[in-house]
Amino acid sequence: MATVPVRKVALVVGAAAVAASLVTLGVVLAGEVAVAQGLLLVVGFGLTAAVVVLGALVVQLKRSVSAVAARHTRQLSELHQTLRGALAVNAETAHAQGQALDSAVAAVTAAVEQTAARLEPPIAATGKRLDEVGADVAAGRADTAQTYWQIEALLDLRTMLQPRALMPPLRDWAASPDVLRWLAEYVVSHRPAVVVECGSGASSLVLGYAVQKAGRGRVVALEHDAAYAEVTARRVADHGLQDVVEVRHAPLTPWPGPDEREWNWYDVNSVKDLDGIGLVFVDGPPAGTGPLARYPALPVLLPHCADEVTFVLDDTIRPDEVEVSGRWMQEHPQFVRQQLRADKGMHVLTRRPDGAPG
Ligand SMILES: C[S@@+](CC[C@H](N)C(=O)[O-])C[C@H]1O[C@@H](n2cnc3c(N)ncnc32)[C@H](O)[C@@H]1O
Repeated sequence: MATVPVRKVALVVGAAAVAASLVTLGVVLAGEVAVAQGLLLVVGFGLTAAVVVLGALVVQLKRSVSAVAARHTRQLSELHQTLRGALAVNAETAHAQGQALDSAVAAVTAAVEQTAARLEPPIAATGKRLDEVGADVAAGRADTAQTYWQIEALLDLRTMLQPRALMPPLRDWAASPDVLRWLAEYVVSHRPAVVVECGSGASSLVLGYAVQKAGRGRVVALEHDAAYAEVTARRVADHGLQDVVEVRHAPLTPWPGPDEREWNWYDVNSVKDLDGIGLVFVDGPPAGTGPLARYPALPVLLPHCADEVTFVLDDTIRPDEVEVSGRWMQEHPQFVRQQLRADKGMHVLTRRPDGAPG
C-alpha cells in the first residue's frame, strides 16, 4: 500500500517534466533561449526526481516481494515439518500395525495347523468308517434285492410243487430257491428219465416232486455222508416220495483223475447201473473235501447219460466251481454253457444230440 503514493509522485513528476519539455520546446521555437535554459534546468530536476522516485519504488517492490517470498517459504517449511511429522507418525503406526498383523496371522496359522493336526486322525477314521458304512449299505441293498428274488422263487416253487409235509430250510447248506425253481421247471418241461444229484438234501425233495409232476422219471441222490443219507431218506419218506427218489449212500473214494493228484469222489460203483441220465445237479461233495471236488461228476457220469443231457453246477460264485466248469467246457466242447445269475451262481451245461444251442 505504501507504494501507491510513490507511484503517483513519480507520475506527476514525469508528467510535469514532459510538460516542461514541451513548454521549453515552445520557448526555444519562440527564440527565448534564456527562458529555455531555465526551463531545461527545471525539466532536468524533474526527471532526476522522477528517476529517484522510481528507484525508491523498485526498492520498495523488491522488499515487499522478498517479504512475501519469505513468508511463503516459512509457511511451506512449517507445512513440510507438519507433514513430515504426520508421515513419521503414520509410518510408525503402520509399522506397528503391520507387526501386530504379522503376529496375529502367525498365531492364527499356528492354531489352524494345530487344529488340523489334531483333527486329522479322527477325520481319517470317520472317512474310513463312512466308507465301511457305505459298503455295508450297498451290501445290504444287494442282500435285500437277493432276498426278494429268493422269496419270489420260493413262492413259485411252493405253488408249483404243493409239498405234502414241511420242507427243510433252503439256502445256506441247502440249495437256494432260484436254482431249485430252475431245476423243477426243467424237469417238468423236459421230463428226463433219470435225474442224478450229487449231494442230497432239500433238493432231493424238490426234484422228487418235480418228477412226480412231470409224470415220468426218477431221482438218484448220491450222499457221501451216512448220517445225511439217513436224514434225507427219512424226509423223502415223510413227503411220500420214496417211489421216485432213491438216496444212495456213496462214500468218497479215490478216483483216478486226469492228472497226478489224488481225486476223491462218490464211489463210482454207486452209479454203475445208471443209464439214460438226462439231468445232473452237481451240489456236492462239499468244497472242504478237496480242491475241484466236483470236477469228477461230468467225466464219471457222462458215459451213463442220454444223448441230450444237462449238468447244473451250483455255487459258481466260488472260484473252484468256475474252474471246474471251465475244465468241463474245455474237455467237452460239444456242451453249450449258460452262466446264470443266481443266489450262489449256477452254470448250466447242455449237450444236445443235434448240436443245437442249449
Ligand atoms: C451243498 S450240500 C448239498 C445240499 C443239497 N443239495 C440241498 O439242496 O439240500 C453238500 C453236502 O453237505 C452236507 N451237508 C448238508 N447239510 C449240511 C449241514 N447243515 N452242515 C454240514 N454239512 C451238510 C451233505 O453231506 C451234503 O451232501
